[in-house]
Amino acid sequence: MPNLFTPFTLKGVTLRNRIVMSPMTMYRSVDGRMDDYHVSYLGARAAGGFGLIFPEQIAITPDGRTTVSCAGIYAESQLEGLERVCSVITSMGGTPAIQLGHTGRKGSLVTPWEGGHMLPPDHPKGWQTKAPSAIAYGGDMPYAPEELTVAEIHDLYDAYAQSAKWAVEVGFQWIEMHYAHGYLGAEFFSPLANQRTDQYGGSLENRARFHLEALDAVRAVIPERIPLTMRLGADDLNPEGTQFDDAVVAIGWMKEHGLDLADLSFGGNTDDMRENIFNTPRAFVERANRVKREVGIPVGASWNLGKPQNADDVVKQGLVDLVFLGRPALANPHWPVWAARELGYDNPFGLVPDDWGWWLRNFRGDQESMGFPAAPEAIAGAEAANVAPTEGWKVDEPDASENGAEEEELKVA
Ligand SMILES: Cc1cc2nc3c(=O)[nH]c(=O)nc-3n(C[C@H](O)[C@H](O)[C@H](O)COP(=O)(O)O)c2cc1C
Repeated sequence: MPNLFTPFTLKGVTLRNRIVMSPMTMYRSVDGRMDDYHVSYLGARAAGGFGLIFPEQIAITPDGRTTVSCAGIYAESQLEGLERVCSVITSMGGTPAIQLGHTGRKGSLVTPWEGGHMLPPDHPKGWQTKAPSAIAYGGDMPYAPEELTVAEIHDLYDAYAQSAKWAVEVGFQWIEMHYAHGYLGAEFFSPLANQRTDQYGGSLENRARFHLEALDAVRAVIPERIPLTMRLGADDLNPEGTQFDDAVVAIGWMKEHGLDLADLSFGGNTDDMRENIFNTPRAFVERANRVKREVGIPVGASWNLGKPQNADDVVKQGLVDLVFLGRPALANPHWPVWAARELGYDNPFGLVPDDWGWWLRNFRGDQESMGFPAAPEAIAGAEAANVAPTEGWKVDEPDASENGAEEEELKVA
């Protein structure tokens, strides 16, 4: 049975381990471009041992961004920065992945530190959003989108295809489409956001059409060796919204349309959710595993898997193939090294570039002073440490009083 550090092969791509740096919007782009900031921040995570590395949701059109400070892949001027990002990740042994996105009715916002609210369409930093139906998200996103015409939907397929082609040209080895968190793809799937009466609304088949046709458009232009995956808003956790049972059926169709792996997350089409997934470690692991079993496709999941033992367990127990880490990747660029030491795996410093690794292995000094928690059994000998069978899931119950304030604030891109 594989563990967190077992390489993973999908199509023609082999990841050095199962640890994914989950896409995280940084709101640090000018005209959608990536620059030194992104190169250094992403390079550090690649040098720290992450296997698959996503920068962030990267928009396929200007109005597909969350804010004017978000990254895009809709203009040639954006390619140089993206190429530098791919180059630094690859040179450090990581695999660069792109998350292609369109925010739909959840665009035209200001950054989280400016309040995260929506700007009206006539604001210089805002725009008229477009979505499946002219229904505003509500709350601090009060401005209604315009309903996309069928011709505009078809134009979006061209935009996905062009962005995917460019992504491969600049060096991305893995393409994920962001169809979760209340963005355009998730909106099409959810009756809360999609009340169309044409072939893109109503029945499950119609609400999944935007997924299947976009997958076809991208698959047609990328090499067969490149995995095509989707982060899917698989559950709105609301009786009126996307139901997980429907998502399982639709993922089966997507598999027939070239989907190579499903990355399960929440629908994000309402704040009115019956479960607080932001604090529920296993919420999407179990859903992902159901997809793995019933659809027969590799899966990944995120949400509160940052304790090394938990991350390792979900792989060893065969529940998921990949572990996506968001906040832990922000907090600790060397999370994989730390986890390998904590878990007692052999040669944790083999995860960093050879020269640093040599020094860390051979010039050890006082273990407690090395910047990682000491894990003597992992670094003492050349033999692989014999990792004890796991004792099952170990998660501290979240302390509601401690986390409550943050939860309310958390907006996920
Ligand atoms: C600052 C920040 C930005 C994020 N941006 C994105 C994004 O662009 N695309 C996406 O799919 N998820 C985004 N997410 C969600 C993460 O990818 C991840 O799924 C989530 O944080 C849960 O994983 P964690 O518990 O390990 O943090 C973001 C999360 C954070 C904290």
